[in-house]
Amino acid sequence: MRVWITGASSGIGLAMAQHYAREGHEVIISARRAETLASAAVTLPAHPLPLDVTDRDAVHAAVRRIETERGPIDLAILNAGTYVVTPAAEFTTEVAARMMSVNYFGLCHALEVLMPLMRARGRGQIAAMSSLAGYVGLPYAGPYAASKSAVMRLCESLVSELARDGVQISVINPGFVRTPLTDRNDFPMPWIVEADDAARWIARDLAAGRFEVRFPRRLAWSMRLLSMLPERLYFAITKRMLRPA
Ligand SMILES: NC(=O)c1ccc[n+]([C@@H]2O[C@H](COP(=O)([O-])OP(=O)(O)OC[C@H]3O[C@@H](n4cnc5c(N)ncnc54)[C@H](OP(=O)(O)O)[C@@H]3O)[C@@H](O)[C@H]2O)c1
Repeated sequence: MRVWITGASSGIGLAMAQHYAREGHEVIISARRAETLASAAVTLPAHPLPLDVTDRDAVHAAVRRIETERGPIDLAILNAGTYVVTPAAEFTTEVAARMMSVNYFGLCHALEVLMPLMRARGRGQIAAMSSLAGYVGLPYAGPYAASKSAVMRLCESLVSELARDGVQISVINPGFVRTPLTDRNDFPMPWIVEADDAARWIARDLAAGRFEVRFPRRLAWSMRLLSMLPERLYFAITKRMLRPA
């Protein structure tokens, strides 16, 4: 299988690249840091293809290059993402736009080039990285949650149309995973999992053809429950999440 993974220079993306390379698949890894990608590529092994997902032309060129030089992409894992803790006092349009441009529009750039190619050949799988944080709006995480909710809704809306053409789309909703992105957090991260375990979980569920890959289960159920609570109870809980002013 030929697997393309974005955001593969560290964290979950790198762990997934390691997993698929170990399993003997042909892996192409993308991210902005060319040197980091190049050294990861040697040990994996994988083919490095540096790019910034916010650059639409670069994403389109990368997909075309893979397909021309190597062959059809069987599985695209659109994982590149960014996260900034955003208290209301620090909210700006720039912060929100930055998260949207990487987490949502970065993914759109890949989708718009991958979908026609996969639909035309009647096969292919796309996995979009979202987050359990996209289930509900929680304090300090608004712009990130909004970008991940957007990914979820987009993927849900595409499932049936793509399935008719033999293409599968999935959404990945992890809870906390230990990576450089969460190493910055100074708050408790319940049921945090290691990146290697996350990668195995994701690969297993994608192979099983699941639409939604969610883990760990306890956090996924807690977030689902939270999203179904009446608003008074829900906001009573989110008020308790506030840090001292
Ligand atoms: N860790 C968690 O708890 C958690 C939970 C739920 C969802 N997620 C999601 O999982 C994904 C991976 O995050 P992670 O935790 O593994 O964090 P990470 O180690 O910081 O990885 C983020 C990856 O995205 C790449 N990236 C960032 N901006 C990019 C851009 N503009 N163009 C191309 N690549 C870009 C980074 O590489 P460069 O800097 O080299 O570009 C890096 O490879 C993200 O979408 C994140 O939102 C993480």
